[in-house]
Amino acid sequence: MAIRNIREMGEEVLGKKCKMVTEMTPRTRELIEDMLDTMYEANGVGLAAPQVGVLKRIVVIDTTGEDPHILINPRIVESSGEQTGQEACLSVPGKTGQVTRPNYVKAVALDVNMKEFELEGTELLARAICHELDHLEGHLYVEKVEGPLQDAVAEEDEE
Ligand code: NI
Repeated sequence: MAIRNIREMGEEVLGKKCKMVTEMTPRTRELIEDMLDTMYEANGVGLAAPQVGVLKRIVVIDTTGEDPHILINPRIVESSGEQTGQEACLSVPGKTGQVTRPNYVKAVALDVNMKEFELEGTELLARAICHELDHLEGHLYVEKVEGPLQDAVAEEDEE
């Protein structure tokens, strides 16, 4: 188990577009394991590779604490509805803000065996998928916040 250093807003790596993963290597497997460890250690519900300084199209998401999703080269193929709620990010510690996202999304991605699969989500999972995929394009939720960025009062799930 290895915890990686989480990069914070203002660091250049968070503003860059990530590269496609073309093959699964031991190094990439290790990165994914470390991303899961890092997400759980930080009590996050999602983490994208650029948040640990790696510009690869990989995200991990777990909105329940017991059901990790690993998405390689993910893309959203369907979305519908709308939800407005508080969002946070491990790269923007101590802050939260209101963001509107689709209430349903379907993503297509590769798993650790580079096999394609679909992941459908509503509510928090849909929000997490959108939030994490934005990281792969170099975008943070703070760019989408409606109203002011607020100080997080309690322990909230961070992505
Ligand atoms: Ni984030």
